[in-house]
Amino acid sequence: AVQLGSLLAKTGMTTLDVGFVNTSACTSSITYIDGNEGILRHRGYPIDQLADNASFLEVSYLLIYGEDPTEAQLAEFTEKVLGETMLPGQMMPLLQAFPLDTHPMPVFSAGVSLFGTHGDDLDIDDPKAVDLATARLLGRGPTLAAAIERIRRGHDAVDPDPSLGYVRNFLRMTFGPDYEITDEIADALDMLLVLHADHEQNCSTSTVRMVGSSEAPLYASITGGINALYGPLHGGANQAVLEMLERIESEGGDATDYMDRVKNKVDGVKLMGFGHRVYKSYDPRAQIAKKHAHALLSQSNDPLLEIALKLEETALADDYFVERKLYPNVDFYTGLIYRAMGFPTEMFTVLFALGRMPGWIAHWREMREDPSTKINRPRQVYTGPAERSFTPISQR
Ligand code: ACO
Repeated sequence: AVQLGSLLAKTGMTTLDVGFVNTSACTSSITYIDGNEGILRHRGYPIDQLADNASFLEVSYLLIYGEDPTEAQLAEFTEKVLGETMLPGQMMPLLQAFPLDTHPMPVFSAGVSLFGTHGDDLDIDDPKAVDLATARLLGRGPTLAAAIERIRRGHDAVDPDPSLGYVRNFLRMTFGPDYEITDEIADALDMLLVLHADHEQNCSTSTVRMVGSSEAPLYASITGGINALYGPLHGGANQAVLEMLERIESEGGDATDYMDRVKNKVDGVKLMGFGHRVYKSYDPRAQIAKKHAHALLSQSNDPLLEIALKLEETALADDYFVERKLYPNVDFYTGLIYRAMGFPTEMFTVLFALGRMPGWIAHWREMREDPSTKINRPRQVYTGPAERSFTPISQR
């Protein structure tokens, strides 16, 4: 890596890198990706080992505090997070005030932003305040998400029951006490949260760092990340994949037409859940999600799984995708699993946000602790008019 920025700034020159295709904005010791080899590691541990063996809160601890916790450390962390699952009292009427057809992502973003109205995260240099805000984001996030979904369906929110543990409590708050939470469902959701926990300088995480670099507090910075995640080129892709599969199903299940439109770039149609800025081989998270989608859905003969598998097979044998090194990304198979659990499509990106929460927090904290941190302030290459004289409006 070459630190070009400050060198060039002294000469008055800048680099132009639209979309930051080749620009590192920071150093980080949290997550390593080798996009050509399809490798993803958190703090050195391969994602498949974490997905198979570690719980979401364990991985959260690892990302945020840098080492995997002992049993005692994990128990303490879990207690702290689950002790912060209640939403502030005045939030519920605000959540109920949104029109019922509002997409859950803006409501989730507004809710997290409102966490900041109590000011408990304002002292960004106080480790205790940062730890409290960390526990509150992880603890309240699922309660907020579940309340949003219940309100959308016209139901009352369900109070948290921390004794159920992180994932089971979330499922119960979302679907109510009559929903049967099997081990299979709880484990699969926990694993999906692990798969999303961090992914270095993606669009939402860079946004968290961008906002935080102005010394904005944690909740405000995370709110920025949630908004960046909403777009269909990022976290919103999981919803878009499901809608694409449903559309292909409604057209008779044959994807030939759809694929032709993609390859001919008709109206900018893309194969959603395919392609990645960094991975030029199979996204290791997609591989894990695919395996679990198979295990969870094969008995139900879900036609959308069949369509997804066929789409992947077709794409991987097609020159258009081969030449551009386009493979399934994490969003391609996850929506099918969420759907099997009973989550409506509009909630998928909120689930992604719950999973990404520890990564966002870890990056904000790492940035705060890094003495080389500066306010993020890119330059631009100006392409407007050269200097000209202003004519008052009455004379134009
Ligand atoms: N379907 C069809 N063509 C694609 C796709 C796709 N999903 N993805 C990329 N391409 C094509 C582009 O049109 C471009 O073709 P060209 O060389 O003929 O112009 C080429 O592949 C390179 O793509 P770029 O757009 O330059 O790649 P970039 O790194 O900028 O974008 C992105 C990456 C946004 C993920 C893109 O692949 C995409 O839009 N995928 C679909 C949306 C999606 O699944 N997003 C989730 C990403 S993972 C995540 O955020 C969690």
